Amino acid sequence: MIVSNIGAELDRLLDWEKGTAEPLLEQPPDMNLGDAAFPCFALSKTLRKNPQLIAAELAQRFALAGVQASAAGAYVNFALDRGLHAQTLLERAELHAVQGEGRTIVIDLSSPNIAKPFGVGHLRSTVIGAALYRMYEAAGENPISVNHLGDWGTQFGKQITAYKRWGSEERLNASPIRESLDLYVRFHDEAEQDPSLDIEARDWFRRLESGDEEALRLWTYFVDVSLTEFNRMYDRLGVSFDRVLGESFYNDKMGAVVEELRAGGLLEESDGAQVVRLDEEGMPPCLILKSDGTTIYPTRDLATALYRHDVLGAEKLLYVVGAEQSLHFRQVFAVLRKMGRDWAEECRHIPFGLMKFEGKKMSTRRGKVVFLEEVLDEAVARASEIMAAKNPLLHNREAIAEAVGIGAIVFGDLKNNRIGEIDFSLEEAVQFEGETGPYVQYTHARARSVIRKAQAAGLPHGSGDAAESEAGVPGHEASSAASEPSGEQAYTWDDASWELLKRLCDYETELRRGLQRHEPSAIARYALDLAKLFNRFYHHNKVLTEVPRERQIRLELTRLTAQRLRWALELLGIGSPEEI
Ligand code: ARG
Repeated sequence: MIVSNIGAELDRLLDWEKGTAEPLLEQPPDMNLGDAAFPCFALSKTLRKNPQLIAAELAQRFALAGVQASAAGAYVNFALDRGLHAQTLLERAELHAVQGEGRTIVIDLSSPNIAKPFGVGHLRSTVIGAALYRMYEAAGENPISVNHLGDWGTQFGKQITAYKRWGSEERLNASPIRESLDLYVRFHDEAEQDPSLDIEARDWFRRLESGDEEALRLWTYFVDVSLTEFNRMYDRLGVSFDRVLGESFYNDKMGAVVEELRAGGLLEESDGAQVVRLDEEGMPPCLILKSDGTTIYPTRDLATALYRHDVLGAEKLLYVVGAEQSLHFRQVFAVLRKMGRDWAEECRHIPFGLMKFEGKKMSTRRGKVVFLEEVLDEAVARASEIMAAKNPLLHNREAIAEAVGIGAIVFGDLKNNRIGEIDFSLEEAVQFEGETGPYVQYTHARARSVIRKAQAAGLPHGSGDAAESEAGVPGHEASSAASEPSGEQAYTWDDASWELLKRLCDYETELRRGLQRHEPSAIARYALDLAKLFNRFYHHNKVLTEVPRERQIRLELTRLTAQRLRWALELLGIGSPEEI
């Protein structure tokens, strides 16, 4: 609002259409330069004057109450009268519902493969996808999360073959993923010597596809035990799904797709297989039916997209899947366009890069796998250790260590641009300093503890519940926190308080920016910024001072910070304990 007033005044001075100057305003690199800056380089061409001169003239003519304009080189810098504007900013910093369009957005996330370990790729998909889900929800849209389990495919033929040869029910029940993985690795090792294994596996998969009773029974069993194990992980990560619709759900829905492609003349034979050519799109053909007539991954994704659009009512379809599947999704979306589905424009692959743990890559095939659950346990154990040293008297340490340890991993993922590769260091992620989840959680707990202290001392604090009831008028304190009742001393807005207040107001912008780029890191970075600014503020200012005016405003800033940090952590799927 204040920035738009500055923009409007610039529009007037430059004889510009309303709203032209505002987007050109920049954030000065150093706060001594003010709260906004207007660069005049581009103007020098049209005005045929040097930019320094333009800046000087604009600064001189600029007239807006409570805003100081000054020229510095080719820039006009604007400094707000802090005391005058603080009230507006305090109101703006208060959490309010963000208006959205209520669009139905189907988000494909997690989607691990049954009978294989929950890989780090699936962890990233789960964590990024769930954050985007909450961000869309917070932005007033209507997201639907779908876990597209990999519960069908030739690997089940291998799984059944291996299980029948070497498996044990006891081991599988006790540790389904580990046993499945052992079987999987053994199958691949032995199949190198013994080709009959592959033939047997293909036969089992064929039996499964034709509804053979024994094959189905074993398959159901594998799915059940794997899901139990996955659900334990989802619980710890605090993630749930609106729908769990595995690939097998589309078994009876692919025939129609193949028929439509055939009727539309889009299917072509290639080496005995049926494909859709994508030469014009500059891509290799999309495989629809294998030479033995079985359907495959792309065919399933075509049926899946149709279901999400036609039945779930998706206006937008997001696929949070590793970058290595980019070609697959480009092909699927291209085939949808060829099928005349204009809404293919609303389908978007949200890729992300690889994550290594302490330099170790994942490979299911060779059994060199870091198990997610072990990583989670390790993070929690380390968090617990650090906390024991830091705060030995803490009650409930186990539950808090769980929130801090898991939060460390989730934050360690989400603070990065999703597309980059991450070399994850557990040691670093669990630290209470630096750019970590525990640092943000710790800052939140620190703010909460100040508020509790104020409450315990019966001090009126900002616009919290206690203050409201004391004032007798709900919200009264909030709306008067910064105004100056006669006779009371004005609050001096030092740089640290002022910067914190301004940054607190950015949350809606950050949310929108994050969604535009599908980047939960926008929220994580914002939380880090706020935490740093709060700690600086806290270092420079005593919050519970004897001066009521100061105390009131500083408590208000503290309350707003705690509220906003909690909001950010919640969006990311991270707990915010009251104490750490
Ligand atoms: N299960 C697949 C995998 O682990 C990911 C599925 C992603 N979603 C989709 N609709 N294709 O590679």
